[in-house]
Amino acid sequence: MRRHEFLQAMHELTRPRTYVETGVHYGESLTLSRVPSIGIDPDFSIRRELLGDMQLARTTSDEFFARARPLAHLPTTVIDLAFIDGMHLAEYALRDYLALERFTAATSVVVFDDMLPRSIDEAARHRHTGPWTGDIYKAAQALRDFCPELIVLEVDTTPTGLVVVLAPDASRGGVLPQYDAWLDVALEPDPQRVPDEVLRRTRALDPERLLASPGWRQLPMLRRRRRGVDRAAVRAAFADVVG
Ligand SMILES: C[S@@+](CC[C@H](N)C(=O)[O-])C[C@H]1O[C@@H](n2cnc3c(N)ncnc32)[C@H](O)[C@@H]1O
Repeated sequence: MRRHEFLQAMHELTRPRTYVETGVHYGESLTLSRVPSIGIDPDFSIRRELLGDMQLARTTSDEFFARARPLAHLPTTVIDLAFIDGMHLAEYALRDYLALERFTAATSVVVFDDMLPRSIDEAARHRHTGPWTGDIYKAAQALRDFCPELIVLEVDTTPTGLVVVLAPDASRGGVLPQYDAWLDVALEPDPQRVPDEVLRRTRALDPERLLASPGWRQLPMLRRRRRGVDRAAVRAAFADVVG
């Protein structure tokens, strides 16, 4: 299954009220949204028809999320679905996640693109291939290491794999205390040492299997609960894939 097919299924299954994307480029992923949305990219060049209420911010995600009220365009300050596909360097992708997570609920879903490079060359920090993932796969490992309460699922989509994060935790406030220490060890000159599990996709879920989880249909219902939802309820909803 191709990445945009999977993202389209995310829109259909999770029925988000809001959508935010870092990295818009030609609008191929933003065009899938039908709800109030924000697309952030310093250099977008839209070629697809965008339907619905969209803010296009021609800036970097770091600058955008440093604004006083970055989500003022949206009818609510909760992002139900987010797609991280901006700068393909690990530190940028992790910062995008932390910035977006501030505006999530336990029922929100964050998808990272290009998380499963197929070769060491594709994972290089200095791009020299056509399709390029850079080293952003390291952001998923950082989330696993420092935020073990998150559900971080690798997905075997073509061409370069995705990661889906469930049950995000806005109470982190966008701050990862280990961030600076992580930078010191995670950022290495090319060639990158990409773990075998990433290159061979040994942990990655079959996208059809993940999409078949009953958890997706429960998310919109959990979202409507008056007293709010704890993250354990989301974990329970996805017990078939989380184990
Ligand atoms: C792979 S493309 C996005 C593709 C798009 N999401 C899609 O699926 O069709 C990556 C985009 O990230 C943008 N980008 C680069 N640095 C960025 C940053 N710091 N913040 C946000 N976007 C950035 C680039 O300008 C480029 O258009």
